[in-house]
Amino acid sequence: MASEAPKHDLEKVIRSLSKTIATASLMIVLLVAVIFLSTFIFDVPQQQLLSISSATLAPEIEDKLSIVDAIDQSSDQQLKYGYALLTQTDELLGPNVTDPAMRYTGNALQCTSCHLNDGAKDYGISLVAVDLRFPQYRGREDKMGTLADRINGCFTRSMNGSALEVDQPEMQAIITYIKWLDEYFEVGADEVKKGLKPIELPNRAVDLQNGAQVYTAQCAVCHQPDGQGLVNADGLTYTYPPLWGPKSYNNGAGMNRVITAAQFIKYNMPFGISHENPVLTDEEAYDVAGYMNQQKRPLRANLEKDFPDRLKKPVSTPYGPYADAFSIQQHQLGPFQPIITYYEQTHSIKKKN
Ligand code: HEC
Ligand code: HEC
Repeated sequence: MASEAPKHDLEKVIRSLSKTIATASLMIVLLVAVIFLSTFIFDVPQQQLLSISSATLAPEIEDKLSIVDAIDQSSDQQLKYGYALLTQTDELLGPNVTDPAMRYTGNALQCTSCHLNDGAKDYGISLVAVDLRFPQYRGREDKMGTLADRINGCFTRSMNGSALEVDQPEMQAIITYIKWLDEYFEVGADEVKKGLKPIELPNRAVDLQNGAQVYTAQCAVCHQPDGQGLVNADGLTYTYPPLWGPKSYNNGAGMNRVITAAQFIKYNMPFGISHENPVLTDEEAYDVAGYMNQQKRPLRANLEKDFPDRLKKPVSTPYGPYADAFSIQQHQLGPFQPIITYYEQTHSIKKKN
């Protein structure tokens, strides 16, 4: 009996397989007939038929080399260097570099730890077409800033390091890569899903306990329960970057603002999602962002000098002084609606983050 059952199954499989094959071949015959007839019945020009099928089979985007391959095949040494600096920042400019003069950053991050997919991700703080928006007014310094100034903003805060000279090869190479992205994507400044995608802010303070739970459930597997990231066997490089602790961004970084971090997290984490298929709710992203940013991280000196015009300070800037009487605690953890309303009513300023 025992041996009969599999045999019986096999017959069933073969029968259903031949049925499938028969159906499939019938479908193909019919399809070919329909296509053949349509060229006679409807007056579809042959060329149009051809272009339709070639468009569906090989859309232009698939002909294009990936960024990494395009860079690999380029002979532009400055461009290659720029790409390397953005994606291997830690190895080339980090605190463990052999030449002390080249230690520009002070943590374990790459530029692409936050500027995701080689700086090309929609709402992943894309660097595509960024150069076209500079020079621009910068509230943090209250003056017009260049692209190099903006990059140095990330060097000194997100990377917890020091600024580059504008004309030094490293800065020029980074700018070359950023400009090359525009050519690669062939898009205009207003076609890019730039920066971060807004979330609906919960009308309450961050719930730190819920934040901790979300962290354990959705983040700790990669960034580790202690938030220090997953270091490789060499003890230097990381598979998953730290979110807090001595090797993370400092407290003057944009990511240390709860609203900015919540927007980043909601539409980019857990790693691998896109803004089209988020996993976390707005509430979860908000709570886990608050939890992450309440942990210890490097402190930047002289932050009180930021935003000389205090009205320009984003509401979730976690350090004072402020142009309002809300507590520092409320600026760090919300609720933000009362602060946003205050600026709207007393100063006619619409605050976003
Ligand atoms: C910890 C995360 C993080 C890291 C690491 C980081 N940045 Fe940024 N960067 C940000 C955030 C946040 C913003 C502001 C985004 C916003 O407010 O829309 C930003 C903005 C920028 C902008 C302006 C983008 C725009 O849309 O105007 C440039 C250019 C930039 N970063 C370059 C760099 C470079 C180069 C590096 C590496 C040296 C780097 N960043 C590392 C988080 C980071
Ligand atoms: C599957 C692994 C994975 C999970 C899960 C994950 N991340 Fe990440 N995260 C990454 C990777 C990888 C990067 C860096 C991206 C890169 O290098 O391309 C990153 C980058 C980040 C960054 C910016 C860089 C830094 O270190 O500050 C933040 C902030 C962040 N993740 C927060 C979170 C939060 C919060 C969660 C949970 C909701 C989470 N991540 C879940 C893998 C993960």
